[in-house]
Amino acid sequence: MKFQLSTSNLIKKNTDCIVIGVFEGRELTPSAEKVNALSKNAILALLKSGEFQGKPEQTLMLHQLPQVPPSRVLLVGCGKKEGLTERQYRKIITSSVNALKKTQASQVISCLTEIEVSHRDTAWKVKHIVEDTLDALYCFDRFKSKKEKPCPLSQITLTIPEKTLSASKKALEQGLAINSGVHFTKDLANMPSNICNPTYLAVEAKQLAKKYSAITVKVLEEKDMKKLGMGALLAVSQGSATPPKLICIEYKGTAKKQAPIALVGKGVTFDTGGLSMKSPDAMVGMKYDMCGAATVLGTLKAAAELKLPMHVVGIIPAVENMPSGVAIKPEDIVTSLSGQTIEILNTDAEGRLILCDALTYTERYKPQAVIDIATLTGAVVVALGFHVSAVLSNHQPLADELLAAGTESHDRVWQMPLWEEYQDQLKSPFADMANVGGKSAGTITASCFLSRFTKKFHWAHLDVAGTAAMMMGGSDRYATGRPVPLLMQYLINRCNDGK
Ligand code: BES
Ligand code: MN
Ligand code: ZN
Repeated sequence: MKFQLSTSNLIKKNTDCIVIGVFEGRELTPSAEKVNALSKNAILALLKSGEFQGKPEQTLMLHQLPQVPPSRVLLVGCGKKEGLTERQYRKIITSSVNALKKTQASQVISCLTEIEVSHRDTAWKVKHIVEDTLDALYCFDRFKSKKEKPCPLSQITLTIPEKTLSASKKALEQGLAINSGVHFTKDLANMPSNICNPTYLAVEAKQLAKKYSAITVKVLEEKDMKKLGMGALLAVSQGSATPPKLICIEYKGTAKKQAPIALVGKGVTFDTGGLSMKSPDAMVGMKYDMCGAATVLGTLKAAAELKLPMHVVGIIPAVENMPSGVAIKPEDIVTSLSGQTIEILNTDAEGRLILCDALTYTERYKPQAVIDIATLTGAVVVALGFHVSAVLSNHQPLADELLAAGTESHDRVWQMPLWEEYQDQLKSPFADMANVGGKSAGTITASCFLSRFTKKFHWAHLDVAGTAAMMMGGSDRYATGRPVPLLMQYLINRCNDGK
């Protein structure tokens, strides 16, 4: 798929299809106005007939309109003109692409950049058209005997006002880079765990290092971790026949000596719960328990594509959480890399056990800030549902940066408190702490646990159990690639601020 920008009026151009928006109440966008004029009121006549009302996500494909050079005109309903939100805009894009997919159109002109979105400029719209179009074309069929037939769509030209050209060019590049990261993250996440195990993740990371000269990878093996004393991480992995890996991936996009941003991603390639085993229903979807890891790899790929002038490290603890004769048992006590001891009361609270050692390990990079990304708790879905990730942080300016990047990228986060009061829930009579904090405030107590390993740096935790993948069972299961757009926006903002 190719994207182009054009500052001229393209309605008179021969092409396979032109995409134009129509609001409810027979209100035409400027391009719809022009097509209407060329075709001697064909659009208005159609609206009068009531066939097409311009309702949100409604689409209608018109063929061979008289006097209109493009052979097809795709009308896309945009709903009410006033106060169009980001979400509505993104839905308009997606529905237009879904309609295009059903046709043979290859070269397309889209005028959807002209639709007003509250508080958003043309560059924002360009970026989202690119991201959402490619997202709508995403398909994971490598395990299907019958492949989906390739979509003929090959080029989309976006019309933009002249004065936005340089900002729009940047936005286009960003959209493409972000989507390449999202795509990579989704592919990794959608892979079943009999293929995508810790070794596979390490190989994929090395593959990135081969492709991008600014990326390097180092993988710590089980014996290395034993030597270091990563007792918590190793405890989770000990029931599995598949060896654990600690993947350290580094992106250096600047020659300047700069303390890195560290991204730490939970890489549980399958979470059975261990001996505190999950029910069959709850276990379906647990191949997605490595979405944090996939997000780190996708974000580094996108940063490398965009050649961001900064230093980012990714730390990925990768394990499989299995029950077995040699698995950890409830009430086992382990010593973490930090030296703090942990009583494991629930083997299904494994994410925090691998993350705590990975976070301690991150200290050696002397990072400016550390963000961990994890499908950590079911409780976050109860609290916030599927639309927003939770952020908890020991440094408010970092949380604020993430909140702002979330709004900008529309890959949003919502802050939860990390107050001292909740720490008491982690008390153990036998060890420095327990790995679970009881029924209430599960997302917060999980973060409280992590906070005990992040005292030496600015840190934010993203709980993405509700946003990284949909795991509703049945056929409604898919990875979203979130929060790659959020993290990319955060990194881009930092570059723009010269940080
Ligand atoms: N990977 C799960 C969290 C999860 C649940 C992700 C649902 C996506 C969808 C995590 O390892 C887990 O099992 N958490 C437990 C914690 C509990 C034992 C304190 C949970 O949420 O039930
Ligand atoms: Mn678990
Ligand atoms: Zn888990």
